[in-house]
Amino acid sequence: IVKHLDEYVIGQARAKKILAVAVYNHYNRVRANLSLEPPHEDTHGVSADQEDRNQRRSWINPPSEAPHKPNTDKPLATPAIPEEKTVYEKSNVLLIGPTGSGKTLLAKTLAEILKVPFSMSDATPFTQAGYVGEDVELVIQRLLQSCDYNVKKAEMGIVFIDEIDKIARRSDVHSASRDVSGEGVQQSLLRMLEGTTIHITDKSSGGQGHGRRNTSSGSMYGQGPPGKGETYTVDTSNILFILSGAFIGLEKTVQDRMAKGSIGFGASLRTIGKDSSHALQPNQPEPLSLVEPEDLVKYGLIPEFVGRLPVVASVNSLNVDDLVKVLTEPKNSLVAQYKGLFELSQIGLRFSKTALKRVAEHALEKKTGARGLRRIMESILLEPMYDAPGSYIRQVVVDSKVV
Ligand SMILES: Nc1ncnc2c1ncn2[C@@H]1O[C@H](COP(=O)(O)OP(=O)(O)O)[C@@H](O)[C@H]1O
Ligand SMILES: [Mg+2]
Repeated sequence: IVKHLDEYVIGQARAKKILAVAVYNHYNRVRANLSLEPPHEDTHGVSADQEDRNQRRSWINPPSEAPHKPNTDKPLATPAIPEEKTVYEKSNVLLIGPTGSGKTLLAKTLAEILKVPFSMSDATPFTQAGYVGEDVELVIQRLLQSCDYNVKKAEMGIVFIDEIDKIARRSDVHSASRDVSGEGVQQSLLRMLEGTTIHITDKSSGGQGHGRRNTSSGSMYGQGPPGKGETYTVDTSNILFILSGAFIGLEKTVQDRMAKGSIGFGASLRTIGKDSSHALQPNQPEPLSLVEPEDLVKYGLIPEFVGRLPVVASVNSLNVDDLVKVLTEPKNSLVAQYKGLFELSQIGLRFSKTALKRVAEHALEKKTGARGLRRIMESILLEPMYDAPGSYIRQVVVDSKVV
């Protein structure tokens, strides 16, 4: 997983490691928990597709609600979950760090190689149920869509929610209404993180006018493709949540706490590990790598919500060297993109090392991480992109004088 992330994302080694571990453990946990489930009905002679459908139906009407279980000939005296087996609980991840440092890119890149359904959403439009805006349940709807409404698969999926800091409780007076909804959204998300059942109606394919949920036992549904206003019931207890946000201003909270010498510093293994590994290095660890739950609560997340996020990964802000690498190294890097663009007009494009460094320095000044790079490149290359095509120019060289 890390190797794949390395192809597109510069640096952020620790965040990559944490994500890789989270995803790998998620696979194993889901597999282990599945083996704890009671065996379901005999599906011999049924195609895989049919089996999927049966599974989906059995989740629309949970097996416990089915009138009669057919396999009564088996000795069923043993409980569903043998006591000695371990039930693995999930460890949701919170990914924090400055803007333009690769959080969203990490998630997008991760999505490409995941072997489970994945949905990506932005928390900014989320509002409490009943308010204008998006409902948090949309994240589950998207997850279902990503696996063609296979509920069983979706229940093992991964949900990524970006800009999660936007639903923090606000303490300033003039945003009192936002305050309420931010907390309300956190409450709804909390229920999902804890594990709840969510009813999703597939509106996308157009309803047939009659609800199909709870009509009868699962196996009695008519043939034909699913969809058309069908309602799906998704249990979120095995879904892994990865939440991400910039949490602007959070460093200050961390620094203040540490300056006070209050609890937290050295109180957790993570802090100790981080601290000692940096002990001999001249530069201090970034404050965000020392975030404690109390800091997040102070920022405006409700304590129960923070409690459901046992893993915190932080991405670092990118320095000049990192930004130069962002320009040149990833697959699909900006330099590669512009080179390709010029090549389409049979024109060579080259950058001097110092020019790239100047571009990186300009981006650093803008304080938007790697986000500023493209705008700077566009403005540098405007003239050559205007002049060169269709002219005698065969080669464009960008050196530090023009940056
Ligand atoms: N670590 C990185 N490695 C490579 N490219 C990056 C990195 N960080 C940011 N970028 C570039 O900047 C853009 C914005 O980054 P993004 O991941 O959206 O930042 P954020 O951390 O704010 O979510 C990305 O599309 C990518 O081109
Ligand atoms: Mg982002």
